[in-house]
Amino acid sequence: MGMSAPAIAAHKVRDGHDPLVMITAYDAPGARIASEAGADLILVGDSLAMVVLGYDDTLQVTVDDMVHHTAAVARAKPDCHIVGDLPWMSYHVSPEETVQNAAQLMRAGAQSVKLEGGRKRLPMIERIIDAEIPVMGHIGLTPQSVHAMGGFKVQGKQAEHGRRLLQAAKSLQHAGCYAIVLEGVPVRVAQLVTESIDIPTIGIGAGMHNDGQVLVYHDLLGIEDRFVPKFVRRYADIKGASVDAVKDYAADVRSGAFPSHDEAYHMDDEQAAALEG
Ligand code: KIV
Repeated sequence: MGMSAPAIAAHKVRDGHDPLVMITAYDAPGARIASEAGADLILVGDSLAMVVLGYDDTLQVTVDDMVHHTAAVARAKPDCHIVGDLPWMSYHVSPEETVQNAAQLMRAGAQSVKLEGGRKRLPMIERIIDAEIPVMGHIGLTPQSVHAMGGFKVQGKQAEHGRRLLQAAKSLQHAGCYAIVLEGVPVRVAQLVTESIDIPTIGIGAGMHNDGQVLVYHDLLGIEDRFVPKFVRRYADIKGASVDAVKDYAADVRSGAFPSHDEAYHMDDEQAAALEG
């Protein structure tokens, strides 16, 4: 179950709380690992598209994909708050569709939803909150805007743009968001936003002055090794360890060392004799 959205909303580092720990997960084993490791929040992120489903960007995943993976995470019953990520085009068309899509993630087991964007998303955010669904905001480098941004680029490097991000964060707070992800913004912008709002900021590629951090599971564990962004710290080399393990398995199969006598099922000698006779 984990923390409730209101408890998270009150979790500011400046009030003496430890930074919030959020990690993505997309299935039951990932959720169990996050929970046993003591993460506060699991984000069933639309990064699913890139790190699990093999797409080049996040625009390809659907509400059905997100429901499928949110449900898998929820079935593990992690002791973490589960955030379901609303995919591209699930909150852009109409308020009715937006609320229905958010409700689908909640029915799959999420305790809140996240969506990308600032002021222009406020009407949809308000409608979701009006349906009693807590919303986490997400501003800065918003991957669903990859084409509009001209690539995955750090946002807010110019003072004017940094100020717009601050205004966006204040608007999201005012609309009722319980927390905001700040992605791919300079340290100084994240610090100013964190100091200026009363709900927690959760950073990714946003430096150390946030009320929490989030990393993508496959980046943190070194499962995804094709591109490692500057802000990722790899705490393990699971891809390397996995390739080595599968190589050992292949060698043992080819040499006849696997399976051994103890790794097989056996019949009584009498039954074996009857089988052959
Ligand atoms: O989808 C995701 O994993 C995210 C995080 C990078 C914040 O939105």
